[in-house]
Amino acid sequence: MPQTAETESKLIQAYGIFLFENDHPTVKELEEAYVPSVHGHKTWDSSFLIMDYLLHKHLLKPKKKVMELGCGWGPASVFCAENSGAKVTGVDLDEDVFPFFQAQAEINRVKVKTLRKSFQQLKKAEFAKFDLVFGADICFWDSLTPIHFKLIKRALKAGVKDIIFADPGRSPFYELVELCQKHFQAEYLDWYSVEPEKFEGYILHIKNS
Ligand SMILES: C[S@@+](CC[C@H](N)C(=O)[O-])C[C@H]1O[C@@H](n2cnc3c(N)ncnc32)[C@H](O)[C@@H]1O
Repeated sequence: MPQTAETESKLIQAYGIFLFENDHPTVKELEEAYVPSVHGHKTWDSSFLIMDYLLHKHLLKPKKKVMELGCGWGPASVFCAENSGAKVTGVDLDEDVFPFFQAQAEINRVKVKTLRKSFQQLKKAEFAKFDLVFGADICFWDSLTPIHFKLIKRALKAGVKDIIFADPGRSPFYELVELCQKHFQAEYLDWYSVEPEKFEGYILHIKNS
């Protein structure tokens, strides 16, 4: 869509993509019709950690099949599609996030797919279609720790090569880290983004051996 000086000033620029500020006119318009209800109402900073980490570790390749868990507005998915032409699917249980995700994909002129499913509903057969699975700020309730642990087990069994979680450092995430370090080949790293500014947090990277 054409950007005016006013709408351009309400865009965040980071890692080669544009994202909406919360007061961007497109966001305001979409909010009239869609109301995300499980925290999918903005771009969360952990997404920038994912972008930085994927770049740093050279984990993106053209045609790579990528799934984003709890994509919300899908900033990291848009980054993957723009940066490498990866084939990206954003998964979320809240369908009201998808119009925001698609609008962000549109302003960056990339194509993304969406899948409305909960973490619990994602089966081995679904994971088998992907090389890389990641999620930013998706382990924020105690009840989500065992859900993600089981999800990671299914994804590894399905042959997903890399599973990456980014988090600002909430306690359910630390519990997930401990479980993964005990049972899988898992790396846990302090990480920070450099765009749009410095955000500090953590990366959990589970590798299929
Ligand atoms: C804190 S937001 C993070 C959104 C996005 N990853 C980001 O960094 O901007 C959490 C997202 O997870 C989704 N979510 C929460 N519980 C879920 C579940 N059980 N299954 C699938 N998605 C879920 C929410 O709808 C929301 O979009």
